[in-house]
Amino acid sequence: MLDRYTWKLRNALAEARLNVQTAGVYLDPSNPDSCCSTLSYHSTRAVLQFLDLKPEDVFVDIGCGKGRVLCCAAQLPMRAVIGIEMNPEVVRAARVNAARMRGRKAPISVFEGDARAADYRDATAIYLFNPFGADVMGAVLERLECTLAENPRTVRLAYTYPRQDRVLAHSGWLEQYAEWPARPDLGMTHGTQFWRSR
Ligand SMILES: C[S@@+](CC[C@H](N)C(=O)[O-])C[C@H]1O[C@@H](n2cnc3c(N)ncnc32)[C@H](O)[C@@H]1O
Repeated sequence: MLDRYTWKLRNALAEARLNVQTAGVYLDPSNPDSCCSTLSYHSTRAVLQFLDLKPEDVFVDIGCGKGRVLCCAAQLPMRAVIGIEMNPEVVRAARVNAARMRGRKAPISVFEGDARAADYRDATAIYLFNPFGADVMGAVLERLECTLAENPRTVRLAYTYPRQDRVLAHSGWLEQYAEWPARPDLGMTHGTQFWRSR
């Protein structure tokens, strides 16, 4: 078992290797429910691996923060890696990180705006780290569901720190297929649920 200082050191090494700066907790004034932190690199990569991302996937981090998950995802060959983020300062940081990361195998785009108005037409794999409360989550899921009629496909979703999982369960079009509890001893500070379209 590694202590928190060792995890910090491992994260710092991962950032140096990727040539990005995504560490640090910040406040989200629009959402007191969100902690605006991020998983360790080790845990992020484990979650992405479990999502079983393929070259034909379009990966979207809804509420992408400074882009740690985007940069880890873009190390895998994929059609596109997309971030959606409403905090302009954080969008700037994510774009800088996307531009300077080493070892990119997929294109990254970061869109500034509200997730309720974003375009999910091509999204096949989605990541969420407790970005918003129940109302916004409901609206985003409805928007996503509408795209399934237009472009039928299977959508997988990883939801870390899943505080609004009841909204997903009641969506009617998503089913949960796995759940990982928090494992601080493995650097996994929050649990993650995995969902997919029925
Ligand atoms: C907990 S942080 C997660 C950052 C990133 N996904 C990660 O795991 O490294 C949640 C982010 O969601 C963003 N956010 C909250 N509400 C949003 C909304 N309605 N539309 C877009 N982004 C939003 C916040 O600004 C914050 O940066």
